[in-house]
Amino acid sequence: MGLLGRSPRIVQIRSQLEKLSASRTPVLIQGESGTGKEVAARVLYDTTPRGHFVPIDCGSMVGPLMETELFGHTRGAFTGAGEAKRGLIELANGGTAFFDEVGDLPLDLQVKLLRVLQEREFRPVGSLQRVRVDIRFVAATHRDLQREVAAGRFREDLFHRLNVVRLTLPPLRERKEDIPLFVERFLSSMGQRYMISDDAMEAILAYDWPGNIRELKNCVERMVAFSSGLLLHYRDLPTGVCNAEALERPRAMAMAAGASATGGAPPVPIAAVEVGVIPLHQVERRAIEQALVFTHGDRTTAAQLLGIGRTTLYRKLKEYESPPRPAADPQACSSVSEVAGLRPFEDRFLAVAAPQV
Ligand SMILES: Nc1ncnc2c1ncn2[C@@H]1O[C@H](COP(=O)(O)OP(=O)(O)OP(=O)(O)O)[C@@H](O)[C@H]1O
Ligand SMILES: [Mg+2]
Repeated sequence: MGLLGRSPRIVQIRSQLEKLSASRTPVLIQGESGTGKEVAARVLYDTTPRGHFVPIDCGSMVGPLMETELFGHTRGAFTGAGEAKRGLIELANGGTAFFDEVGDLPLDLQVKLLRVLQEREFRPVGSLQRVRVDIRFVAATHRDLQREVAAGRFREDLFHRLNVVRLTLPPLRERKEDIPLFVERFLSSMGQRYMISDDAMEAILAYDWPGNIRELKNCVERMVAFSSGLLLHYRDLPTGVCNAEALERPRAMAMAAGASATGGAPPVPIAAVEVGVIPLHQVERRAIEQALVFTHGDRTTAAQLLGIGRTTLYRKLKEYESPPRPAADPQACSSVSEVAGLRPFEDRFLAVAAPQV
């Protein structure tokens, strides 16, 4: 799997990885959780493969057995060591050792790792003999290692040894232009020809993705699991993603209205949006929009799908078209189109359905 993306920062990182792949220079990969640090480390190795790629999960390196996990042990080195065992460092000899979440490595193991980096040799537990190694060190962390050094949780000398070349993967919210590529990639990996509706994609683009690519991948998988066909709808999105989109527009509108019309006092709807509540009438309006898009404007079928009568549907459409109340009245902000900042209803619907008419 390559490092997907066409945003300038990813294009630059891809080219740096390509240049670095043939060398043995240590590389430190930083970035928030789920930004693709492990994917980048594998790209670095796969571009010019040499020896094995050995991932070492530093977060799990706790307890007395972890030293033997890293460096191996001789037969009889401790009670229960019936056979000699090679450690992960030795397995990586001639290849790449990927120290994942290196910021979580306990201080005593940091000292031992530093020795391997400096002297290119180590001693298995219980052995007097040193083993020489030739390893390419790649480390990743979601932590700010300089801050960890300042706090005394990470050795400064080890930091400098690992930080020869540093690559920082940007969070997904800073490269939203790559989101459609990821959605497409994840959908095509599902085996069927899934597609995503425009309003669902709009909401995906509006969301900030604190869990980055991993969260987006889980979201797409979840949408496929909940969808009833090959077209994935807004209603198939996780609530957090819908709420974020619903919050984004009304917050700005309510803020603007609050500052100008109520002399700075927060208008009524902001309380609802602040706690992540979508007004019920807004949910209803979205359901109607989706039904009409799905039926290409056939109101009879849309009403059937929605489980309401045709006249009820007509009445609701008329309501949506009625002009909003004046903004000076705080209640006015709770009108759906104002709070949600939606485009005029028929415009929005016709934009999607027009080619079919
Ligand atoms: N460029 C990419 N193309 C396709 N999938 C990707 C890409 N980058 C990341 N992913 C997917 O996103 C998820 C997270 O990637 P990865 O494990 O590399 O992130 P990470 O930064 O190491 O996360 P963490 O800090 O949580 O360990 C994985 O499921 C991975 O397959
Ligand atoms: Mg990782």
